[in-house]
Amino acid sequence: MKRLKRGVLIVLEGIDGAGKTTHAKLLTEWLREEGYIVSLTKEPTSGEIGSLIRKQLQRRVFHPATLALLFAADRLEHAESELKPRIEAGEVIVSDRYVESSICYQAAEGVDVEWIEDINKWALNADLTILLDVDAQTAMERMGSKFKDKFEEESFLERVRKIYLERAKEKGYLVIDATPPVEDVQMKIRRIVASFMKNCENFIFKGLKVCSGDEEV
Ligand SMILES: Nc1ncnc2c1ncn2[C@@H]1O[C@H](COP(=O)(O)OP(=O)(O)OP(=O)(O)O)[C@@H](O)[C@H]1O
Ligand SMILES: [Mg+2]
Repeated sequence: MKRLKRGVLIVLEGIDGAGKTTHAKLLTEWLREEGYIVSLTKEPTSGEIGSLIRKQLQRRVFHPATLALLFAADRLEHAESELKPRIEAGEVIVSDRYVESSICYQAAEGVDVEWIEDINKWALNADLTILLDVDAQTAMERMGSKFKDKFEEESFLERVRKIYLERAKEKGYLVIDATPPVEDVQMKIRRIVASFMKNCENFIFKGLKVCSGDEEV
């Protein structure tokens, strides 16, 4: 088992139908095969605030700023109770959506980006954010005729996508074209994550503390 000195939070982002859930599962399986202790999580969470958000997404009642507050609250509570202890225990966490989802979706509904960033300032920072990019038409086709929540509308998703791409450029997030077949996209994700993990200098491997190189900690 590979246990890191400090765990890492890896986030998959993208519009509805981009493939986040599909790839988060595959990435988790692979990281486990590689020997890491991995938790797979998603937002909104299954906690009390997350459940309230899910209901709201179907009813379309709350103001977008209220939703932003709820998402921030759901994230903070989950990060404090679940993610931080796991990170401290050296686990890898793969999260299906995180802060960028709030920023891009609520900004597409007209909420100020700076304010959304501000209300999320207490949440644990992601160590690696990967944006799975597809156009809204492809995403809608992938979702097919399943029940659509308030965000699953093509012109809205195209707006969200544009914000995601602008933010990725600004913040240096890695962008992967998620249009090709699942196996090809997953290979790219694994390559990125493998090189990221290699650069995590702080492995504690089988109880032996090793830094980058052979230096003992
Ligand atoms: N690269 C791909 N090529 C073809 N189909 C794909 C690809 N990636 C995902 N899919 C399919 O598209 C659908 C949506 O994928 P998935 O549920 O992973 O998206 P998501 O980003 O998690 O969406 P949501 O935000 O709505 O949860 C699924 O049926 C999945 O099998
Ligand atoms: Mg999903």
